[in-house]
Amino acid sequence: MQYLEKIFQPYGSIPENFIPQTAKFTSKYLINGKLGEWHGDLHQVISPIFTTEDEEHGHIVGAYPKMGTTEALAALEAAVKAYNHGYGEWPSMSIGERINCMKKFIFMMKQQREEIARLLMWEIGKSLTDSYKEFDRTIEYIKDTIEALKDLDRNSSRFTISEGILAQIRRAPLGVVLCMGPFNYPLNETFTTLIPALIMGNTILFKPPKLGVLLLTPLLNAFHEAFPAGVVNTIYGRGKEVITPIMESGKVDVLAFIGSSKVADLLKKEHPHPHRLKCVLGLDAKNPAIILKDADIDTAVKETLLGSLSFNGQRCTALKIIFVHESIVETYLKKLSEAVENLKIGLPWEDGVNITPLAEAGKPDYLAELISDAVSKGASIVNPNGGKRYKSLFFPAILRNVNDSMNIYREEQFGPVIPVVTFKNVNEPLNYVIGSNYGQQASIFGKDSGQIAHLIDILVNQVCRVNINAQCQRGPDIFPFTGRKDSAEGTLSVSDALRVFSIRTLVATKETDLNKSILTEIVKDNKSKFLNTDFIF
Ligand code: G3H
Repeated sequence: MQYLEKIFQPYGSIPENFIPQTAKFTSKYLINGKLGEWHGDLHQVISPIFTTEDEEHGHIVGAYPKMGTTEALAALEAAVKAYNHGYGEWPSMSIGERINCMKKFIFMMKQQREEIARLLMWEIGKSLTDSYKEFDRTIEYIKDTIEALKDLDRNSSRFTISEGILAQIRRAPLGVVLCMGPFNYPLNETFTTLIPALIMGNTILFKPPKLGVLLLTPLLNAFHEAFPAGVVNTIYGRGKEVITPIMESGKVDVLAFIGSSKVADLLKKEHPHPHRLKCVLGLDAKNPAIILKDADIDTAVKETLLGSLSFNGQRCTALKIIFVHESIVETYLKKLSEAVENLKIGLPWEDGVNITPLAEAGKPDYLAELISDAVSKGASIVNPNGGKRYKSLFFPAILRNVNDSMNIYREEQFGPVIPVVTFKNVNEPLNYVIGSNYGQQASIFGKDSGQIAHLIDILVNQVCRVNINAQCQRGPDIFPFTGRKDSAEGTLSVSDALRVFSIRTLVATKETDLNKSILTEIVKDNKSKFLNTDFIF
């Protein structure tokens, strides 16, 4: 391992192509179709990347508007006006017209790939490779969403007749959607709700996460150019000042939030008519791996390494606790320790880098506290460099002999610490899952199909995805992504998201000659945007 103290560089020595270009003019916002320059107070964006000139805090990447309640409510009014009770230009556009706007957006978005990747590196410390992946995956998600919408619309373009009633059943928008994504996937996860909500005809307020704000700025012009005024509006600032008044207004129809269950609960309670608020939530998780005695150890090591340390363990789907059968725990730990020690820690643009600066300023201290709590109660660090730290850099630590007296046993560490629990009887990890507040995913490693089948049948009613001999993950994005208990509300996937942000609505009539001729005329002369049989190719 390199000396952590030697990793940060002088700013001047960093190659130009890794330095964000838009940082100097980032105080932009988009409200009611106006792409404005903010002249009020600013909030500085401090990078987790230090340079040798910045001793006290990370490099200052730029600044974003520190909005207040007035601006937040202006953004809300813009979205309400653009929706106009469902009669605004955007919600009443045909699906084909909305798709054309989205295609224009994709075209403009693609031109920002390099700059967004640079900002992902500087704002949240994501490696260049993973930053490109996040961008490309998002573009694919939008394209797949368009195709899924075409399919949905094709299936809805015919009439249904039952019990003498003739009906056309389609999906209609819900209203104003407040979208808030997480800092670990500030582009991708924000867009996995924003894009389907938008294309279904809703109007949007979006607040970037606490970290990863500037990287959305290069897209403001694309939102401005591709969609009618007021359809997409940005809000920045402190939650209490900007989000609370918006929620308290009762004018938000859908809350799309990916973050902690604690914040989600607060936001929901602020809405005066909870039954009118639809929530789409991606929340906390503590996904376990269960490594059985007959597991292929090399596969288990490879997958648990990826599962617990990709993007430094800062994924909601990360493996956050590993249960290993006592008969193989020594071999597993030896191999895992070697693999972890071989990881490269460094700056996000370095070739082959695995571990990068941690995005949240308080995270290294928090992880160190988790480790010292566990060690004081009988755990030990397995790998020689485990837990070594310098500023935002934290070398991954494997902890062995973890048990239920330790905070790490239940808390979601969201960082590079791998707690390993040794078990004798498989009921021990199963009881852990049953007693957990979370229910997103689990991974099982083993070979015996009978035992795996038994575990599957128990786990599928505790979590929403069981991975066999593989790490936990969200993708492919056409698969449903959700969770039980405190882990989620609503299901996301390319096609599920279109359903989540819309409601089935139908036009129905009795099958009489008069009614049939009315419907025929409406359809033949294209008199209605909703009631029509147009087929999108
Ligand atoms: O942070 C949670 C993300 O949804 C994880 O997605 O499994 O593709 O990294 P991923």
